[in-house]
Amino acid sequence: MTDKELIAMAAQAREKAYVPYSGFPVGAALLTRSGEVYTGCNVENASSGLTACAERVAVFKAVSEGKQQFDTISVVTAPGASPCGACRQVLKEFGGSLRVLVADTEGQVLEFALDELIPHAFPGWSLEGNRALDVAK
Ligand code: THU
Repeated sequence: MTDKELIAMAAQAREKAYVPYSGFPVGAALLTRSGEVYTGCNVENASSGLTACAERVAVFKAVSEGKQQFDTISVVTAPGASPCGACRQVLKEFGGSLRVLVADTEGQVLEFALDELIPHAFPGWSLEGNRALDVAK
């Protein structure tokens, strides 16, 4: 799977976006370490806080199919927008060494490391020793 192919898959997923409110379609394609690709598009809702971003749809599809190790995610929008903070945090849950390809619809691509996009993310280990977890034991 080349970067170009992964970006093409995100562009294809973008065509499925459900965006009646923003008119801003987003497509994502997530390549696992074992070579599968899970795509996602944004799915909006009349209750706007319920909208799901394309990147998170791709991650949740992959995890729900048993994949948790990721190599690269490509994201396609018309202006070449990079993933929102919430999506960065969700991606970070599954490892910091992810490559993030941010593409526009004219074929321009920027590459980032996830750690560049979300330095000092909220870490899962900070919940160790959490009182709420102790109570649940
Ligand atoms: N959106 C994404 O799908 N991914 C992002 O990283 C940022 C924003 C969507 C949410 C909404 O449907 C539209 O883009 C405009 O915010």
